[in-house]
Amino acid sequence: MKITVVGAGAVGATCADNIARKELCSELVLLDIKEGVAEGKAMDLMQTATLLGFDTRITGSTNDYAKTANTDVAVITSGIPRKPGMTREELIGINAGIVKTVVQNILQHSPNAIIIVISNPMDTMTYLALQSSGLPKNRIIGMGGILDSSRFKYYLSTAIGCAATDLQGVVIGGHGDTTMIPLARLATYQGSPVADYLDADTLKKVVADTMIGGATLTGLLGTSAWYAPGAAGAALVESIVRDEKKLFPCCVSLDGEYGQKDICIGVPVIIGKNGWEKIIDYKLTPDEQAAFNKSADAVRNMNAVLATL
Ligand code: LAC
Repeated sequence: MKITVVGAGAVGATCADNIARKELCSELVLLDIKEGVAEGKAMDLMQTATLLGFDTRITGSTNDYAKTANTDVAVITSGIPRKPGMTREELIGINAGIVKTVVQNILQHSPNAIIIVISNPMDTMTYLALQSSGLPKNRIIGMGGILDSSRFKYYLSTAIGCAATDLQGVVIGGHGDTTMIPLARLATYQGSPVADYLDADTLKKVVADTMIGGATLTGLLGTSAWYAPGAAGAALVESIVRDEKKLFPCCVSLDGEYGQKDICIGVPVIIGKNGWEKIIDYKLTPDEQAAFNKSADAVRNMNAVLATL
């Protein structure tokens, strides 16, 4: 098994770190355009192998895609990250060109690769990757909902005062501060609705905090977060390479599901060796469906910008 992570910034390196610790592959390539950075981070990570006990071989490459040949799963983190006060959407002008080129280069050397897109604005970058590559839709997965759901459970656990791993909670819709939809109705604490433990105002605040979870971290850190985004990317890779069939909310191409088509947006899907294998129908209430439609409109407006670049 061979995995490539494109972009050796904080998210890419953290993702590679998690992939190696979990020994998800024998070979892991980290690639970046900045001379020496991927090689340096790969070497640094390899020097943790005896400390952490993994046998994955990590190598770095400065923009030489020949080294990524025969990759099974490619994770794309390339592009500029958010700065405080910026939305993910403001990154489109620069990141669209980068993501399109990266996808082409990966597929030139690994025509069968499954592609995971993390670069922002992620829903539009996933759509661009699909449109520009012409790949079967199941092989392009945008990573956003897993991360947003993890943040949702973090805020829920803090409010309830319980273990985050005892919670179930899913965020669907776009991966944007105003477009994501934490599904509070369906969130549970070991099977019972979280609404049984939180008053309506507190639950509303949890939802609001989740939606701006990424922006809160950008404000604190001065740049985009990396531990949870990197771990979320690795969780996706794990479900693919181990064919776990886990249910994760991911950004995928819809063809009528959830009332939408010609769009990539977050919905619950099963992730296995073929990429995303099946969309799960959550049977939304009319209010939730209206929120989803509004989110899809926003993502579609962002996709329309691609034509103007
Ligand atoms: C975030 C970025 C990765 O939400 O979109 O932190």
